[in-house]
Amino acid sequence: MLRAEGLSKRFGGLKAVQDVSFTHHQGEILAVIGPNGAGKTTLLNLLSGVYRPSAGRLHLMGRDVTALPMEARCHAGLGRAFQIVRPFPEMTVHENVTVGALFGKPGQRLPEARERAWALLDRTGLAAHADKAAHELTLLQDKRLEVARALATNPSVLLLDEVMAGLRPGEAQEAVALVRGVRESGVSVLFIEHIMPVVRDLADRVVVMDQGQVLAQGTYREVTADPRVVSAYLGTEEGLHA
Ligand SMILES: Nc1ncnc2c1ncn2[C@@H]1O[C@H](COP(=O)(O)OP(=O)(O)OP(=O)(O)O)[C@@H](O)[C@H]1O
Ligand SMILES: [Mg+2]
Repeated sequence: MLRAEGLSKRFGGLKAVQDVSFTHHQGEILAVIGPNGAGKTTLLNLLSGVYRPSAGRLHLMGRDVTALPMEARCHAGLGRAFQIVRPFPEMTVHENVTVGALFGKPGQRLPEARERAWALLDRTGLAAHADKAAHELTLLQDKRLEVARALATNPSVLLLDEVMAGLRPGEAQEAVALVRGVRESGVSVLFIEHIMPVVRDLADRVVVMDQGQVLAQGTYREVTADPRVVSAYLGTEEGLHA
């Protein structure tokens, strides 16, 4: 589905992402974890095309997309929700998702896009809030909207950056169910997350980053048993499970 080979990104002298390689298989939920500043968001920006890599290649469904800008990657099947949620605040929830549907499929007619938006609001539990302005939503609803907007672009791979952050435990469970539903609909999911129980419950496989590099990859059980991973998280078991 996605194959990163030696992806690197420098900001001046800082190697934010350094020689990162991994494969994201079709239908898989892949988590990217790591301490603050590990390079997770920068990696997602490389995957979605916000940044061009300083080195390395990215393949999407067998196609080399390294040189494609963000819009073209979106049309090629990469959907993305941002760590900092940014819907159009004065537009309604339904309008926000409609924009995503129009963006994902150029040439689509407005009535079809609106219809598709309704279906996605149903799926993400936002139908009752469709006519609210986006700025009126709660944090959980915001996150749902962010997922709905990304899904509206009809992605094969959905990239999520800390969509659970700031949620209460019960809300995080709802968000976990939402992500599972996304995968069941045939979309592969790559997500960045700090909340370890969420990673444990959701991820088929985990990529651990530290200081720009891949420290470990494997199942949740494998990576959390890896002494290098434990020490990257402040050197304590508590740090890892905080
Ligand atoms: N646009 C930028 N310009 C310069 N430095 C940047 C830029 N974006 C990120 N960095 C730096 O790159 C490193 C990796 O940052 P990144 O945001 O990718 O980490 P992260 O793993 O997402 O962290 P967090 O868990 O806090 O979200 C950090 O040292 C950060 O300060
Ligand atoms: Mg980040």
